[in-house]
Amino acid sequence: MKIINIVGARPNFMKIAPLMAEYSKHPEIDPILVHTGQHYDEKMSDLFFRQLGIPEPDINLGIGSASHAVQTAEIMKAFEPICLEHKPDAVLVVGDVNSTIACGLVAVKLGIKLIHVEAGLRSGDRAMPEEINRVLTDSISDLLFCTEQSGVDNLLAEGVSKDKIHMVGHVMIDTLLKNLEKSQQSNILSEIQSQFGVNGDSFAVLTMHRPSNVDDPVVFSRILDALEVIQNDMPIIFPMHPRTRKNITGTNLGNRIDGMTNLHLLDPIGYLDFLKLTSSAKLVLTDSGGIQEETTVLKIPCITLRENTERPITAEMGSNQVVGTDTQKILHAYQNATSGNWRDPQVPPLWDGKASERIVKILSDNQL
Ligand code: UD1
Repeated sequence: MKIINIVGARPNFMKIAPLMAEYSKHPEIDPILVHTGQHYDEKMSDLFFRQLGIPEPDINLGIGSASHAVQTAEIMKAFEPICLEHKPDAVLVVGDVNSTIACGLVAVKLGIKLIHVEAGLRSGDRAMPEEINRVLTDSISDLLFCTEQSGVDNLLAEGVSKDKIHMVGHVMIDTLLKNLEKSQQSNILSEIQSQFGVNGDSFAVLTMHRPSNVDDPVVFSRILDALEVIQNDMPIIFPMHPRTRKNITGTNLGNRIDGMTNLHLLDPIGYLDFLKLTSSAKLVLTDSGGIQEETTVLKIPCITLRENTERPITAEMGSNQVVGTDTQKILHAYQNATSGNWRDPQVPPLWDGKASERIVKILSDNQL
């Protein structure tokens, strides 16, 4: 069975890594790895391949950054000839980035079966580019693998037939559990100590890159109002996404960030450094999707700077609180987290490091 597997952007790499490793135990599966090149930097892409032991992509489409329409269209144009040449039995996509829907659409238009890993998640917010990608990809997929029960429920409510849906756990958590011990050898804590004088036993980690936060100066400043107060109490380490960096350079927002003496910026960091950083932090502030899930497994309080989450299990049983972007609400959550007033988090069902094993078994049993 020939399966083309798609990666494009940073959050895809930790999801594809355990699947590629699992395929190698199944000689009946012939996997091809295609990188669309949506993310192309050493720090946003290559480093992850090396650290996670992902094989070199068989094909790199080299698309890079562009508007959503151009990026999606260019990926489709470049991917179609690959499908025609290799004639795969299936195309497997992960997550919710533009590469996911672009390659999914090419596959189904050619009559190739489509497999979606991390299906069914819904924020209910159609202004979020990823929500559109999720809804569309799920609606054209033949086999849908879910990380949490809400995903299964959403798909059933949207009329997806039950026999296409499998609750398997989370491939991204497979990668976390596999690398947690290794990540403890990272030097990131001594680096933040020597670079910023930040003590490794009391700091917060911040990540922010969602367009709704960083493309809107009013929302961004509301968050900065809260960060200004928090950094007076606890140092904040902020590995900055290129989108965020681009948006603040030479602006008032950039000046405000530069003026905060205890908010420390880093370039994007690799997987192992980030895992060491988050697993050592007192708390995490983020607008990422995946980090809500990683902090749930690490049992680190997570303050989500968004009005909604497509991963409700992290807030229902994990360490996540979805607080939005109101300054006072962020500060209130911070106070709760630092005073120990936080739910004792539980790890969601099947987030046990075996999701990729379950998925590949189902593929191998040929349920396509
Ligand atoms: C994309 C995903 C988002 C994911 C995020 C993780 C979509 C719609 N969004 O958003 O879901 O959470 O990746 O990072 O697919 N850039 C670089 N180097 C790179 C890649 C990007 O400098 O290797 C810069 C470019 O200037 C680009 C900007 O970052 O314009 C945004 O990149 P893009 O891929 O368009 O979207 P992300 O915001 O990264």
